[in-house]
Amino acid sequence: MHYRKFGKDKFQSSILGFGAMRLPLNSQDTADIDLPQATRMIRLAVDSGINYIDTAYGYHNGKSETAVGQALRDGYREKVRLATKLPYWAVNSPEDMDRIFAEQLTRLETGKIDYYLLHALSKTAWDKLKGFKVLEWAQSKLNAGQIGSLGFSFHDGPEVFKQIIDEHAWDFCQIQYNYMDTENQAGAQGLEYAASKNIPVVVMEPLRGGSLANPLENIREIFTKSGITRTPAEWALLWAWSQPGISLVLSGMSNLEQVRDNLRIAENSGSWKLSENDLKIIAEVKKAYLDSKAIDCTQCGYCMPCSYGVNIPANFAMYNEAERYNNYNGPKWQYANRLKEGERAAACTGCRRCLTKCPQKLEIPDQLEKVHQALKS
Ligand SMILES: NC(=O)c1ccc[n+]([C@@H]2O[C@H](COP(=O)([O-])OP(=O)(O)OC[C@H]3O[C@@H](n4cnc5c(N)ncnc54)[C@H](OP(=O)(O)O)[C@@H]3O)[C@@H](O)[C@H]2O)c1
Repeated sequence: MHYRKFGKDKFQSSILGFGAMRLPLNSQDTADIDLPQATRMIRLAVDSGINYIDTAYGYHNGKSETAVGQALRDGYREKVRLATKLPYWAVNSPEDMDRIFAEQLTRLETGKIDYYLLHALSKTAWDKLKGFKVLEWAQSKLNAGQIGSLGFSFHDGPEVFKQIIDEHAWDFCQIQYNYMDTENQAGAQGLEYAASKNIPVVVMEPLRGGSLANPLENIREIFTKSGITRTPAEWALLWAWSQPGISLVLSGMSNLEQVRDNLRIAENSGSWKLSENDLKIIAEVKKAYLDSKAIDCTQCGYCMPCSYGVNIPANFAMYNEAERYNNYNGPKWQYANRLKEGERAAACTGCRRCLTKCPQKLEIPDQLEKVHQALKS
């Protein structure tokens, strides 16, 4: 295992951290964690040098923290630094923060959270937590030694990221980052900004939640043609480690093979520098991903407003995302949760008024039907 300096003390974190958001399950129920197997995975990771574990109050419907707490019995707790998060959505009074925190200590079977994050900050979430004086609350926990370092994880745009960075002397932060997301969320801009303020950055979703490990054939061909023997997961992890300003990369491994594989990749990651040729191959892969559009919508919005309220470009973007990464989970969730009922493809009446407005001459009603069939729950 390789290590990098992380944070305000002399801690050297393993370059690979264990993300406990995708633990193995006994059934379809996300709370039904296969505890013996999750314990084996976490202990193998720790025995192999991983010393940072990331969980959250909400993962696995509240059961991830409990599973991590159990896996870290028998002396394992002392071998790692533990990160967990305050769920802003469950905080509706200042007392909620104390209640949730106490529950987390119980679940994790510990007296201290080494790295405590405000979970999934966006502008709305940050404003909400500030309203409950979250920083004063966290400072009291830091003073009491119940929190070691304070940070936040982030899901919004670069300007909001910079604003949050500027509003507190954070010990660290956590962003979604991989070779496809350099212009998404905090993105490269955010990473550079945090680095310029000497704030350590933890990366989440280095494989884009697994999508980059399972590409379609056209992407696989580019990797194969390069003649370099690396798996798609290996390319993505090596890319993440090669980016300046990144301290450690979390991976949410969901079985023992993935743990072994990612340990091997981390072990062989050498100087974490990718060659010019490697970067050219990744650029080619990125272009192929971006070029692959199942529906040739340019998001120009000329079709809008739809007479019946359907958000045509948003539906097409979700579908293209699903097809591009060969992964429907995220887009299905977005279709159900980010769009109001009347905005979804299913609300298309087939009136065809949009057809004359589309510069790409897309058969919009037919395509919307396809989107609905693919993304409905
Ligand atoms: N704070 C936040 O808002 C937030 C948000 C997201 C994540 N996180 C944290 O960050 C951690 C990392 O994010 P992530 O879990 O999305 O990481 P990721 O590495 O992008 O995705 C993990 C998934 O990639 C696949 N995978 C991992 N290793 C593989 C390998 N060697 N070969 C093939 N496939 C592999 C698995 O998918 P399959 O199971 O499909 O095979 C696994 O579930 C999370 O576990 C969580 O702790 C935090």
